[in-house]
Amino acid sequence: MIIRLAESKDVKVIQNLCDVFYFVYTDALLDSIKRKRVLVAEESDKVLGVVIYALKEKKVSVLVVDKEQRGKGIGKALFEESVRFFNVTQMKIMATEDPTNSVPFWKAMGFFPLPQIVKTKRGNKLRPMIYIKEKKQ
Ligand SMILES: CC(C)(COP(=O)(O)OP(=O)(O)OC[C@H]1O[C@@H](n2cnc3c(N)ncnc32)[C@H](O)[C@@H]1OP(=O)(O)O)[C@@H](O)C(=O)NCCC(=O)NCCS
Repeated sequence: MIIRLAESKDVKVIQNLCDVFYFVYTDALLDSIKRKRVLVAEESDKVLGVVIYALKEKKVSVLVVDKEQRGKGIGKALFEESVRFFNVTQMKIMATEDPTNSVPFWKAMGFFPLPQIVKTKRGNKLRPMIYIKEKKQ
């Protein structure tokens, strides 16, 4: 598996991956790709996961792995590469708690949950979580 910057040819597959939760607008996605804010995990020419980094908010705004490919370390590899590539030291994200519970994943990535849950218009429950990168001694 490799992790690389997304290209405009990846737009459709990225939108399909994200579709479960969010509709990612084509123009906004192309703009993020152009600005080098989107990384994809790829194996045998197949995109298996995506991470989008929101530069203004300084946080991962989207991280999704293909349903068939979860639990194999792809999400972790994408998160770790985004921390390195985007030079992250800390960030606050909104983790989905319902319909899919991604909180255990983010805990495994070193995030701490905050108490107040937010409900979206779609009825999804989001849990704010905070990440502070450990300093190497
Ligand atoms: C959340 C998601 C990105 C995780 O990707 P993944 O490739 O399945 O995760 P990984 O295999 O890299 O798991 C990394 C670590 O998280 C842990 N983890 C992942 N999901 C977990 C779960 N449901 N319960 C407990 N631990 C979990 C793994 O055990 C692993 O821990 P380790 O590093 O100690 O071995 C993926 O499940 C997904 O796309 N979910 C739907 C979209 C989503 O919810 N995105 C987040 C929105 S905020």
